[in-house]
Amino acid sequence: MKNQVSFCANLILEKSPDFRPQIGLVLGSGLGTFADSVKVISKISFKALPGFPKAGVGGHAGQLILGLVGRTKIAVLQGRAHYYEEGKADAMAVAIKTLKEIGCQSLVITNAAGTIDKDASPGEIMLITDHVNMTGVSPLFGHSERDRFVDMTNAYDLELSNIMRQAAKKNNIKLNEGVYAWCCGPQFETPAEINALKILGVNAVGMSTVPEVIVARHSQIPLCALSIITNLAAGISTSALSHDQTIRVAKLGEDAIREILMTYLNSFSDEQ
Ligand code: HPA
Repeated sequence: MKNQVSFCANLILEKSPDFRPQIGLVLGSGLGTFADSVKVISKISFKALPGFPKAGVGGHAGQLILGLVGRTKIAVLQGRAHYYEEGKADAMAVAIKTLKEIGCQSLVITNAAGTIDKDASPGEIMLITDHVNMTGVSPLFGHSERDRFVDMTNAYDLELSNIMRQAAKKNNIKLNEGVYAWCCGPQFETPAEINALKILGVNAVGMSTVPEVIVARHSQIPLCALSIITNLAAGISTSALSHDQTIRVAKLGEDAIREILMTYLNSFSDEQ
Protein backbone atom coordinates (compact mmCIF):
# COMPACT_ATOMS: atom_id res chain seq x y z
CA MET A 1 0.00 0.00 0.00
CA LYS A 2 2.89 2.37 0.85
CA ASN A 3 4.29 1.89 -2.65
CA GLN A 4 0.93 2.68 -4.25
CA VAL A 5 0.57 5.84 -2.15
CA SER A 6 4.00 7.17 -3.12
CA PHE A 7 3.48 6.19 -6.78
CA CYS A 8 0.13 8.04 -6.87
CA ALA A 9 1.47 11.05 -4.97
CA ASN A 10 4.45 11.37 -7.34
CA LEU A 11 2.22 11.10 -10.39
CA ILE A 12 -0.14 13.78 -9.07
CA LEU A 13 2.67 16.13 -8.05
CA GLU A 14 4.47 15.64 -11.38
CA LYS A 15 1.32 16.82 -13.13
CA SER A 16 1.05 19.98 -11.04
CA PRO A 17 4.43 20.48 -9.38
CA ASP A 18 3.66 23.84 -7.79
CA PHE A 19 0.27 22.88 -6.41
CA ARG A 20 0.00 21.56 -2.85
CA PRO A 21 -3.65 21.13 -1.77
CA GLN A 22 -4.52 22.11 1.81
CA ILE A 23 -7.86 20.32 2.12
CA GLY A 24 -9.14 17.05 0.68
CA LEU A 25 -12.81 16.63 -0.16
CA VAL A 26 -14.61 13.33 -0.71
CA LEU A 27 -17.80 13.75 -2.75
CA GLY A 28 -20.57 11.21 -2.18
CA SER A 29 -23.42 9.89 -4.32
CA GLY A 30 -25.07 12.56 -6.41
CA LEU A 31 -22.77 15.31 -5.09
CA GLY A 32 -20.28 15.21 -7.93
CA THR A 33 -21.36 18.53 -9.41
CA PHE A 34 -19.73 20.42 -6.55
CA ALA A 35 -16.64 19.97 -8.68
CA ASP A 36 -18.17 22.48 -11.14
CA SER A 37 -17.62 25.19 -8.50
CA VAL A 38 -13.90 24.47 -8.35
CA LYS A 39 -11.40 26.40 -10.48
CA VAL A 40 -9.68 23.34 -11.92
CA ILE A 41 -5.88 23.16 -12.03
CA SER A 42 -5.70 19.51 -13.08
CA LYS A 43 -7.78 16.35 -13.29
CA ILE A 44 -6.59 12.76 -13.09
CA SER A 45 -8.80 9.74 -13.71
CA PHE A 46 -8.80 7.19 -10.88
CA LYS A 47 -7.87 4.68 -13.60
CA ALA A 48 -4.37 6.20 -13.71
CA LEU A 49 -3.97 5.93 -9.93
CA PRO A 50 -3.34 2.38 -8.66
CA GLY A 51 -5.32 1.57 -5.52
CA PHE A 52 -7.85 4.35 -6.13
CA PRO A 53 -11.53 3.34 -6.42
CA LYS A 54 -12.86 1.90 -9.62
CA ALA A 55 -15.76 4.05 -10.83
CA GLY A 56 -18.93 2.04 -10.45
CA VAL A 57 -21.93 3.23 -8.49
CA GLY A 58 -24.21 5.71 -10.29
CA GLY A 59 -23.42 9.33 -9.59
CA HIS A 60 -19.68 8.76 -9.23
CA ALA A 61 -17.28 10.17 -11.85
CA GLY A 62 -14.07 8.54 -10.62
CA GLN A 63 -11.49 11.28 -10.82
CA LEU A 64 -9.21 13.39 -8.67
CA ILE A 65 -9.50 17.13 -9.20
CA LEU A 66 -6.92 19.60 -7.98
CA GLY A 67 -8.18 23.15 -7.89
CA LEU A 68 -9.09 26.33 -6.06
CA VAL A 69 -12.11 27.56 -4.16
CA GLY A 70 -11.31 31.22 -3.68
CA ARG A 71 -7.66 31.03 -2.70
CA THR A 72 -7.98 27.71 -0.88
CA LYS A 73 -6.19 24.87 -2.62
CA ILE A 74 -8.19 21.66 -2.57
CA ALA A 75 -8.03 18.08 -3.83
CA VAL A 76 -11.41 16.54 -4.64
CA LEU A 77 -12.11 12.82 -4.83
CA GLN A 78 -15.06 12.81 -7.20
CA GLY A 79 -16.38 9.36 -6.38
CA ARG A 80 -15.58 6.73 -3.77
CA ALA A 81 -15.42 2.97 -3.32
CA HIS A 82 -17.79 1.28 -0.90
CA TYR A 83 -17.22 -1.78 1.26
CA TYR A 84 -20.20 -3.48 -0.40
CA GLU A 85 -18.56 -3.40 -3.85
CA GLU A 86 -15.80 -5.95 -3.22
CA GLY A 87 -16.03 -6.58 0.51
CA LYS A 88 -12.88 -4.52 1.14
CA ALA A 89 -13.15 -2.16 4.08
CA ASP A 90 -9.87 -0.47 3.10
CA ALA A 91 -11.07 0.32 -0.44
CA MET A 92 -10.44 4.06 0.15
CA ALA A 93 -7.19 3.72 2.10
CA VAL A 94 -4.79 4.46 -0.78
CA ALA A 95 -6.85 7.45 -1.90
CA ILE A 96 -7.09 8.97 1.60
CA LYS A 97 -3.40 8.40 2.38
CA THR A 98 -2.43 9.88 -1.00
CA LEU A 99 -4.36 13.05 -0.14
CA LYS A 100 -2.21 13.40 2.96
CA GLU A 101 0.97 12.63 1.01
CA ILE A 102 0.27 15.43 -1.51
CA GLY A 103 -0.24 17.97 1.27
CA CYS A 104 -3.81 17.86 2.58
CA GLN A 105 -3.90 18.80 6.25
CA SER A 106 -7.58 18.04 6.74
CA LEU A 107 -10.53 16.35 5.04
CA VAL A 108 -14.20 17.00 4.42
CA ILE A 109 -16.17 13.84 3.75
CA THR A 110 -19.68 13.94 2.28
CA ASN A 111 -22.28 11.25 1.74
CA ALA A 112 -25.96 10.55 1.17
CA ALA A 113 -27.88 9.16 4.13
CA GLY A 114 -31.33 8.15 5.26
CA THR A 115 -32.67 9.94 8.32
CA ILE A 116 -34.03 8.21 11.40
CA ASP A 117 -34.53 11.55 13.08
CA LYS A 118 -37.93 13.00 12.15
CA ASP A 119 -36.64 16.57 12.65
CA ALA A 120 -34.49 16.21 9.53
CA SER A 121 -36.09 16.13 6.08
CA PRO A 122 -34.92 14.88 2.68
CA GLY A 123 -32.87 17.56 0.95
CA GLU A 124 -31.45 18.87 4.25
CA ILE A 125 -27.86 18.56 5.46
CA MET A 126 -26.58 16.86 8.63
CA LEU A 127 -23.24 17.48 10.30
CA ILE A 128 -21.92 14.13 11.54
CA THR A 129 -20.85 14.42 15.17
CA ASP A 130 -20.00 10.75 15.79
CA HIS A 131 -20.65 7.33 14.29
CA VAL A 132 -21.65 3.75 15.04
CA ASN A 133 -19.95 1.07 12.97
CA MET A 134 -22.60 -1.63 12.42
CA THR A 135 -20.54 -3.71 10.00
CA GLY A 136 -18.10 -5.39 12.38
CA VAL A 137 -15.24 -4.73 9.97
CA SER A 138 -12.36 -2.26 9.89
CA PRO A 139 -10.04 -0.90 7.19
CA LEU A 140 -7.25 -1.59 9.69
CA PHE A 141 -7.69 -5.38 9.61
CA GLY A 142 -4.32 -6.88 8.71
CA HIS A 143 -2.29 -4.01 10.16
CA SER A 144 0.22 -5.27 12.68
CA GLU A 145 1.74 -2.10 14.12
CA ARG A 146 0.83 -0.76 17.55
CA ASP A 147 -0.72 2.32 15.96
CA ARG A 148 -3.66 0.20 14.72
CA PHE A 149 -5.29 0.77 18.13
CA VAL A 150 -6.69 4.12 17.03
CA ASP A 151 -8.51 6.38 19.48
CA MET A 152 -11.88 7.22 17.90
CA THR A 153 -12.87 9.86 20.47
CA ASN A 154 -13.61 13.17 18.72
CA ALA A 155 -13.07 11.49 15.35
CA TYR A 156 -15.13 14.32 13.86
CA ASP A 157 -12.85 17.24 14.68
CA LEU A 158 -14.51 19.73 17.03
CA GLU A 159 -12.82 22.80 15.59
CA LEU A 160 -13.51 21.89 11.95
CA SER A 161 -17.11 21.02 12.84
CA ASN A 162 -17.50 24.46 14.40
CA ILE A 163 -16.22 26.08 11.21
CA MET A 164 -18.83 24.03 9.32
CA ARG A 165 -21.57 25.22 11.71
CA GLN A 166 -20.52 28.82 11.12
CA ALA A 167 -20.50 28.28 7.35
CA ALA A 168 -24.10 27.00 7.46
CA LYS A 169 -25.15 29.89 9.72
CA LYS A 170 -23.60 32.49 7.41
CA ASN A 171 -25.71 31.09 4.56
CA ASN A 172 -28.87 30.78 6.68
CA ILE A 173 -28.97 27.06 5.97
CA LYS A 174 -30.42 24.66 8.52
CA LEU A 175 -27.73 22.24 9.64
CA ASN A 176 -28.97 19.14 11.43
CA GLU A 177 -26.47 17.31 13.61
CA GLY A 178 -26.18 13.73 14.69
CA VAL A 179 -24.73 10.27 14.83
CA TYR A 180 -24.26 8.35 11.56
CA ALA A 181 -24.42 4.57 11.44
CA TRP A 182 -22.43 2.66 8.84
CA CYS A 183 -24.43 -0.32 7.57
CA CYS A 184 -22.64 -2.41 4.98
CA GLY A 185 -25.32 -2.50 2.26
CA PRO A 186 -25.80 -2.75 -0.64
CA GLN A 187 -29.33 -3.65 0.49
CA PHE A 188 -31.13 -0.94 2.43
CA GLU A 189 -31.90 -1.65 6.07
CA THR A 190 -35.03 -3.39 7.33
CA PRO A 191 -37.52 -1.39 9.44
CA ALA A 192 -36.45 -3.58 12.40
CA GLU A 193 -32.81 -2.62 11.87
CA ILE A 194 -33.75 1.06 11.71
CA ASN A 195 -35.77 0.69 14.90
CA ALA A 196 -32.75 -0.91 16.58
CA LEU A 197 -30.51 1.92 15.37
CA LYS A 198 -32.97 4.46 16.75
CA ILE A 199 -32.75 2.81 20.17
CA LEU A 200 -28.94 2.94 19.87
CA GLY A 201 -29.06 6.72 19.45
CA VAL A 202 -28.42 6.90 15.72
CA ASN A 203 -29.76 9.83 13.69
CA ALA A 204 -28.86 8.87 10.12
CA VAL A 205 -27.75 5.79 8.25
CA GLY A 206 -25.59 5.15 5.20
CA MET A 207 -23.16 2.79 3.50
CA SER A 208 -19.91 4.78 3.44
CA THR A 209 -17.73 7.34 5.23
CA VAL A 210 -16.89 5.41 8.42
CA PRO A 211 -14.02 3.36 6.92
CA GLU A 212 -12.62 6.60 5.46
CA VAL A 213 -12.84 8.25 8.88
CA ILE A 214 -10.99 5.31 10.47
CA VAL A 215 -8.23 5.48 7.83
CA ALA A 216 -7.97 9.26 8.28
CA ARG A 217 -7.71 8.90 12.07
CA HIS A 218 -5.05 6.25 11.65
CA SER A 219 -3.19 8.62 9.29
CA GLN A 220 -3.71 11.54 11.71
CA ILE A 221 -5.71 13.67 9.30
CA PRO A 222 -8.38 15.74 11.08
CA LEU A 223 -11.76 15.79 9.38
CA CYS A 224 -15.37 16.79 9.46
CA ALA A 225 -18.28 15.22 7.57
CA LEU A 226 -21.65 16.15 6.10
CA SER A 227 -24.57 13.98 5.01
CA ILE A 228 -27.21 15.00 2.53
CA ILE A 229 -30.43 13.48 3.79
CA THR A 230 -31.96 11.75 0.78
CA ASN A 231 -34.81 9.81 2.41
CA LEU A 232 -36.57 8.83 5.58
CA ALA A 233 -35.01 5.53 6.67
CA ALA A 234 -36.84 2.22 6.13
CA GLY A 235 -40.08 1.91 8.06
CA ILE A 236 -40.16 5.62 8.89
CA SER A 237 -41.31 6.33 5.37
CA THR A 238 -43.95 4.18 3.74
CA SER A 239 -42.47 4.69 0.27
CA ALA A 240 -39.98 2.27 -1.30
CA LEU A 241 -36.26 3.06 -1.07
CA SER A 242 -34.03 3.07 -4.13
CA HIS A 243 -30.63 4.27 -5.31
CA ASP A 244 -32.37 6.38 -7.97
CA GLN A 245 -34.14 8.23 -5.18
CA THR A 246 -30.78 8.76 -3.40
CA ILE A 247 -29.29 10.35 -6.53
CA ARG A 248 -32.42 12.41 -7.27
CA VAL A 249 -32.89 13.81 -3.75
CA ALA A 250 -29.15 14.41 -3.29
CA LYS A 251 -29.60 16.91 -6.14
CA LEU A 252 -32.15 18.81 -4.00
CA GLY A 253 -29.57 19.24 -1.26
CA GLU A 254 -26.76 20.07 -3.65
CA ASP A 255 -27.20 23.84 -3.60
CA ALA A 256 -27.23 23.92 0.19
CA ILE A 257 -24.18 21.71 0.54
CA ARG A 258 -22.37 23.68 -2.15
CA GLU A 259 -22.97 26.99 -0.34
CA ILE A 260 -21.86 25.55 2.99
CA LEU A 261 -18.76 23.98 1.47
CA MET A 262 -17.79 27.13 -0.48
CA THR A 263 -17.98 29.23 2.69
CA TYR A 264 -16.17 26.56 4.71
CA LEU A 265 -13.35 26.21 2.17
CA ASN A 266 -13.04 29.97 1.66
CA SER A 267 -12.45 30.41 5.36
CA PHE A 268 -9.10 28.60 4.92
CA SER A 269 -7.92 31.05 2.24
CA ASP A 270 -5.45 32.80 4.51
CA GLU A 271 -3.76 29.63 5.72
CA GLN A 272 -1.03 29.20 3.14
N1 HPA B 1 -29.80 3.63 4.13
C1 HPA B 1 -28.51 3.38 3.79
N2 HPA B 1 -27.82 4.14 2.96
C2 HPA B 1 -28.44 5.20 2.41
C3 HPA B 1 -29.77 5.51 2.71
C4 HPA B 1 -30.49 4.68 3.62
O1 HPA B 1 -31.68 4.89 3.93
N3 HPA B 1 -30.09 6.62 2.00
C5 HPA B 1 -28.96 6.97 1.31
N4 HPA B 1 -27.97 6.10 1.55
